[in-house]
Amino acid sequence: MRTEQPKTIYLKDYRQPDYWIAETHLTFELFEDHALVHSRLAVQRNAEQGKKLPPLVLDGQQLQLISLALDDVELSEDSYQLDADHLTLHPGSAEFELAITTRIEPQNNTALEGLYKSGGMFCTQCEAEGFRKITYYLDRPDVMSRFTTTVIADRGDYPVLLSNGNPVASGEHEAGRHWATWEDPFPKPAYLFALVAGDLVLIQDSFTTMSGRDIDLRIYVEPENREQCGHAMDSLKRSMRWDEEVYGREYDLDIFMIVAVNDFNMGAMENKGLNIFNSSCVLAHPDTATDLAFQRVESVVAHEYFHNWSGNRVTCRDWFQLSLKEGFTVFRDSQFSGDMNSATVKRIEDVTFLRANQFAEDAGPMAHPVRPDSFIEIANFYTLTVYEKGSEVVGMLHTLCGADGFRKGTDLYFERHDGQAVTCDDFVKALEDANGLDLTRFKRWYSQAGTPRLEMNGHWDANAGEFRLLCRQSCPPTPGQTDKQPLVIPLRMALLDSQGAEMSLQLADETGSRGTETVLAITEAEQLFVFTGLREEPLPSLLRGFSAPVKMTYPYSRDDRVFLAKHDPDGFNRWEAAQALAVEVMQGLVTMAQAGRPLMLDQRMVDVYRSVLNNPELDPAMVAEIIRLPSEAYMVELAEQADIDAIHKVRETLRAELAQALHDDMLAVWQRLSVPQPYTPDAASVARRSLKNTLLGYLMLSESEEIVAACVRQFIEANNMTDRQAALVALVNSPFEEQKQAALAEFARQWQDYPLVMDQWFSVQAASGQPGGLERVQALMQHPAFNLRNPNKVRAVVGAFANQNLVNFHRLDGAGYGFLADQIITLNSLNPQIAARLMTPLTRWRKYDPARQALMQEQLQRIMATDDLSADVYEVVSKSLA
Ligand code: PHE
Ligand code: ZN
Repeated sequence: MRTEQPKTIYLKDYRQPDYWIAETHLTFELFEDHALVHSRLAVQRNAEQGKKLPPLVLDGQQLQLISLALDDVELSEDSYQLDADHLTLHPGSAEFELAITTRIEPQNNTALEGLYKSGGMFCTQCEAEGFRKITYYLDRPDVMSRFTTTVIADRGDYPVLLSNGNPVASGEHEAGRHWATWEDPFPKPAYLFALVAGDLVLIQDSFTTMSGRDIDLRIYVEPENREQCGHAMDSLKRSMRWDEEVYGREYDLDIFMIVAVNDFNMGAMENKGLNIFNSSCVLAHPDTATDLAFQRVESVVAHEYFHNWSGNRVTCRDWFQLSLKEGFTVFRDSQFSGDMNSATVKRIEDVTFLRANQFAEDAGPMAHPVRPDSFIEIANFYTLTVYEKGSEVVGMLHTLCGADGFRKGTDLYFERHDGQAVTCDDFVKALEDANGLDLTRFKRWYSQAGTPRLEMNGHWDANAGEFRLLCRQSCPPTPGQTDKQPLVIPLRMALLDSQGAEMSLQLADETGSRGTETVLAITEAEQLFVFTGLREEPLPSLLRGFSAPVKMTYPYSRDDRVFLAKHDPDGFNRWEAAQALAVEVMQGLVTMAQAGRPLMLDQRMVDVYRSVLNNPELDPAMVAEIIRLPSEAYMVELAEQADIDAIHKVRETLRAELAQALHDDMLAVWQRLSVPQPYTPDAASVARRSLKNTLLGYLMLSESEEIVAACVRQFIEANNMTDRQAALVALVNSPFEEQKQAALAEFARQWQDYPLVMDQWFSVQAASGQPGGLERVQALMQHPAFNLRNPNKVRAVVGAFANQNLVNFHRLDGAGYGFLADQIITLNSLNPQIAARLMTPLTRWRKYDPARQALMQEQLQRIMATDDLSADVYEVVSKSLA
């Protein structure tokens, strides 16, 4: 239990700060058992808040105040107030200099927020509110200041000393210590501050910007990772070029640095000029990283780089506006990844992820709008809704403005707000002004939570040659929002004739034709679109590219879906049709399983999969996406009340049946793709590996000795981690104990010194739906390579188990829930952010049967009753039980 309730903060209470901080001079003295932070702040009264001098209330947590001086006069203890979160003082003039020294203990900082040690190095993480754990400050994004930072540390242990901006001076100190001073010319909020001190090697390259400036590019890593930085560096250069070409954005400082650290709560952080990365998002080498990991590095490097404009040059006024930078930047990085690889495959991946995860968030107790209107702990709002749905919202704006209009809008946004801290409204306003649009109603996407439903119906009038498309939208209630208003939903669509060709689109109330593909703007709760001049009954291809994050229904027959899966000229919607068919088939099978009836396979699925497998024109990556069944998590999300045992059984049975029915086709394609080839990382090879390994997963279900032997061979002989790991996954999920154990042992022997590779080894086992999952996970936690203080390890073992291993996590005796609650309670005191994130599966308790609901609630109650509950965990658990 908490002794006092943490406070809720509201967007409507926003007001400007009473003071600004023009200059921030920091000096860090780093030692093994503590650090001293000396800060000198040039503070000014915010004139807009009036003339009278209010108290100056600085944020600060877990700090030891050593000294405090105002205009060089040391303040006596009775002239200021200290509480757990603030330092309050009473200035005598509108402009003054404040000098503060605090003492902190980075070596004991397990929350990984503020200044902490990861391995042998010092590093920082200040977003969102970590700077207040370093020194007393106005730790809010609308206070932007010019930072100068000096770092002093032992030269032997910390030869590399970094901070934001440009290096301006360095030198020696007594007793083997040295120092370096960095100056950042761009005013920034404290959340973008960074410092690194460590024994790191440097990988260097350069980039010439569009205006001809040479930028020094640096990646700093621990010496053993030197060979694993090439891909990140290439990705960085491609991102820099892309942002110039697509958004006209040029890099501003003369140096850009990335540092990889092993202990990091998130993926990476966009600190000005000094990005700090979870090593999992920087390091990639074909021997140690899968193709998926390569893609992740590319997209995270791009994401953080793109923040230099969307986040740093133009930042957020307050944390309710988080999606201003995150939604926009996710949108930018997905555009980039789409341009670098296959845009359709990237879109399929993003949509799959959104539906299985963000839709579930939007339907649960933590549901919130893209721009939340209240929070207890901002760290809990780095969510799929703010990031992924936020990106969808920007994507819809892109669709509504068109690519050129969108670019005009972003140009205006960057020009108008460079150097400012602004709001989502400012972003939309720039798009409106640049395009002469009124987006008032569209903006409801920022304030309304929940996944809208879009119910579509079609009516063919043969006599009139008219197709009437009726759209009905609604949105289920979410916590605190019962009445929902209609949204603006851009619907990209086409009409197909009986050959699958797109028909010309003529709307009854318009003069010109709309060509063969159009975007309908649905703005009302109910709306009718009438297409005229049609020679035959069309089959609509709707919501192409998933043009809005909604749950759309249309009364397609299964034959319609088969037709669309084979013939829709739009690649995304071909995949969508196959997915929807699979979902429908699986939902039918779940009902059969629950009734204890035998599971009968719909031959139409076999038919679609066969035609896809044998279509030489299809990108192999697309084939892989199409024949991958919807995930258990997505089936859970779609269910009113999820029967996880039935879902698991149905999915496994269906996979086995498909593998059997399509054995010859799958084997032929797999054999063709399995011809040994030198490893290359290009998109075409990635696509072939993706299909090959998806097929291996199916073929292993035949339990044929030959295939198992081939899988073992692939495991041993693979010349890259993608193929090796895929073989390991197939073995771990198979009943072949001997081969499985041999492979696991060999893998651990070979990679024990590579933490990121061992993360793979952990998560493959933790996620395996084979029986005995909980016992397996408990054993993994005893492994010497496991460490509860390392977030990557927690994610690989506890996270993979609770989020991906649904049958084992939800075992009927509730032991999985108890296990997760134990970990959350332990982590609550070590690392509250990670503890709160692990809560997600328990927040979904309403999805399950009454027995499981009771067991999950019991664990939530137990967490709620824990002593010293962090605000992070308290917020999630209290909202879950509300
Ligand atoms: N701002 C980071 C990103 O999206 C994410 C992050 C948030 C990292 C909070 C650390 C802490 O790129
Ligand atoms: Zn981001």
